[in-house]
Amino acid sequence: MTASISDNLLAWYDRNARDLPWRNPPGRALPGDPAWPYRVWLSEVMLQQTTVAAVKPYFAKFVETWPDVAALAAASDDDVMAAWAGLGYYSRARNLVKCARAVAARGGFPATEAELRKLPGLGDYTAAAVAAIAFGRRAVVVDANVERVVARLFAIDEPLPGARRAIRAAADSITPAARSGDFAQALMDLGSHVCTSRAPRCLICPLAADCAGRLQGAPDQLPVKPPK
Ligand code: ADE
Repeated sequence: MTASISDNLLAWYDRNARDLPWRNPPGRALPGDPAWPYRVWLSEVMLQQTTVAAVKPYFAKFVETWPDVAALAAASDDDVMAAWAGLGYYSRARNLVKCARAVAARGGFPATEAELRKLPGLGDYTAAAVAAIAFGRRAVVVDANVERVVARLFAIDEPLPGARRAIRAAADSITPAARSGDFAQALMDLGSHVCTSRAPRCLICPLAADCAGRLQGAPDQLPVKPPK
């Protein structure tokens, strides 16, 4: 049962993954490109509070101007702040430069979630995402989209934020040891295109047969919002 959820989702991702500039082709070994962790980290920081559509042109501009972490570490704060203008949440840009300098000083990104978590600007989500996507480490990556998919799949009906503990445990139970970066991005794609917040498209969902929320009849009611 558990194996079939991740297998079904990865097979769906192999056919339906969004083609995004910071992604490796699904199912392929991690790219040998030494700037790969840099691109993953940069995109995940940009995507923290900003949509994919808004991030794309900024991501392109940053990697063109600063193609690797050493280049960004050598940039002036003012140049980075100017390039970030319009993306919002400017503490992200300040931490971006600090993090680039720390990473350049240690000779590259660390590969484990625990070490990544210590870098400026990397919270639980970003550390897990970079460990999984850039380094192929097994990590449980939970953002708002993933939270919604998992709450439905397991019919977790406790209200947020209390439900987060159960959602995380459930996400952990279905995260495979191999391809955990693809698995995380598959959940994100499913959440943004199929398991949408108002009108989930269960008819085209690769996880429909295993979805307790759908079987109970009202997946759109999950996750339950915090009490007012
Ligand atoms: N949102 C945050 N990270 C993402 C990713 N890697 N792909 C798509 N959406 C995302």
